[in-house]
Amino acid sequence: MTDKIEKTHKTIEQAEQEGKYIRKVRSFVKREGRLTKNQERAIDNHWAEMGLMHSDGLINPAALFANNNPVVLEIGFGMGKSLVEMAKAAPELNFIGVEVHKPGVGACIASAVEAEVTNLKVYEHDAIEVLADCIPDGVLTTVQLFFPDPWHKKKHHKRRIVSAEFVETIRQKLKVDGVFHMATDWENYAECMLEDMQKSPGYNNLSTTNDYVPRPDSRPLTKFENRGQNLGHGVWDLQFAKKA
Ligand SMILES: C[S@@+](CC[C@H](N)C(=O)[O-])C[C@H]1O[C@@H](n2cnc3c(N)ncnc32)[C@H](O)[C@@H]1O
Repeated sequence: MTDKIEKTHKTIEQAEQEGKYIRKVRSFVKREGRLTKNQERAIDNHWAEMGLMHSDGLINPAALFANNNPVVLEIGFGMGKSLVEMAKAAPELNFIGVEVHKPGVGACIASAVEAEVTNLKVYEHDAIEVLADCIPDGVLTTVQLFFPDPWHKKKHHKRRIVSAEFVETIRQKLKVDGVFHMATDWENYAECMLEDMQKSPGYNNLSTTNDYVPRPDSRPLTKFENRGQNLGHGVWDLQFAKKA
């Protein structure tokens, strides 16, 4: 898989000359953790039906899922536990997950197979590049970003995935009235997310208090959230709808 991706972009310079958007500061550090046997088997046996390749370019969701159901995109699904739970609970929706951590992708596929989930496909790739190169404009009903890496230190804030530019990209990919849903257990990140969203003229805040929303029932507790709660952290959910 990785070889195929590398062959498409030989060098950053070449990709830039081809007009590709290249991001130099990334929101993740690639940890090449070892795959468990179960994760490896899940990828080997089920990549053909569940895996999506960044190098295949722009997708047609209706053709991909063989139906016209609304499409939910989740960025940074970790081990995929809550994503699989959501896909299982909503067979009337199509889910696309994007995660850079290969063991997480393997774990997600293994859980999906076990749960007999068929409305989920996954990328093992940087979501920024997937958004730029693979997702057509105006096709997503929901974008989910749950507990993105907070990059606590001020000098690392530039690594945070949420920025003014990012929220504008998400807006382009959403349908009108489509919802961008974020959650974090890091108060300073929640405040920055809110500021970026409020500055963007293309969204309506779904919060009745003009800031955060209560966790909707549709969002299961994630692993990071459970851990945060045990540490006494708060959690902030934000939901904004794309304006017409
Ligand atoms: C703190 S974890 C949260 C995982 C999961 N959402 C949860 O709540 O349990 C953040 C995840 O985002 C992934 N990630 C960070 N930047 C990413 C990017 N640009 N594209 C795809 N995944 C990314 C990381 O690999 C990591 O698994």
